[in-house]
Amino acid sequence: MLCLMLTGCGQTVMPASSRNSSETETTSATQTSVTASETTSETGTEESKSNILVVYFSRTGEQYTVGVIDKGNTAIVAEAIAERTGADLFEVIPEDDHYPMTYKELTDVAKKEQNNNDRPKYKGDVPDLSGYDTIFIGAPVWWGDWPMIMYTFFENNSGELSGKKLIPFSTHEGSGLSGFDKKLASACPGSTVLNGLAVRGNDCQNKQEDVRNKVNEWVTGLGY
Ligand SMILES: Cc1cc2nc3c(=O)[nH]c(=O)nc-3n(C[C@H](O)[C@H](O)[C@H](O)COP(=O)(O)O)c2cc1C
Repeated sequence: MLCLMLTGCGQTVMPASSRNSSETETTSATQTSVTASETTSETGTEESKSNILVVYFSRTGEQYTVGVIDKGNTAIVAEAIAERTGADLFEVIPEDDHYPMTYKELTDVAKKEQNNNDRPKYKGDVPDLSGYDTIFIGAPVWWGDWPMIMYTFFENNSGELSGKKLIPFSTHEGSGLSGFDKKLASACPGSTVLNGLAVRGNDCQNKQEDVRNKVNEWVTGLGY
């Protein structure tokens, strides 16, 4: 795994109806769809836009290869997905924002959380998930895995996530999707995990048009 330099952050559910709406070299999406119990080749079915939610975690501050940023890389991808699909947005924001804004310090905190198998709390209320058939879920790759706060989200909402189509996406600086799909399927039994997308964090800041195109192509390929 890469040891990189980065950090950052902000919560709310942002319904598509209240939202107005960028490089990259997006890395390739995984080529398999994974259910909690099996691999599928589902391409998705047509969904009402109001049935789609994008859940994401993202940091601002100092990030690897891009310096100090005021909008997180994953947030940029999340917004591109929402713009393309008309989905609502829900940002996972730490309840107690203990994450440093400097990259090296953040990597140390994140490593400790991972080693301890921590479940950092997030603030705010998760929207009623029963209204969503499809949930895109994204985060930066942290030490080759989902940030631990995302496991808090998965476990807190495991019942509601069961039976949903879950679509993972990552931003990263070399690790790609880093097994987000399989880990998501394991953490959310009863869900169907579709093909994920991995995007270079640097591209999110510097090749936003390419990122949007990549997101649109991916979403279209999923059948949305
Ligand atoms: C704590 C930490 C650990 C990271 N670990 C990895 C890693 O294992 N592999 C990788 O490719 N990038 C890694 N990165 C880089 C981030 O995944 C990448 O910069 C991402 O785009 C940040 O997204 P964000 O701005 O939405 O938080 C790490 C960054 C941080 C802060």
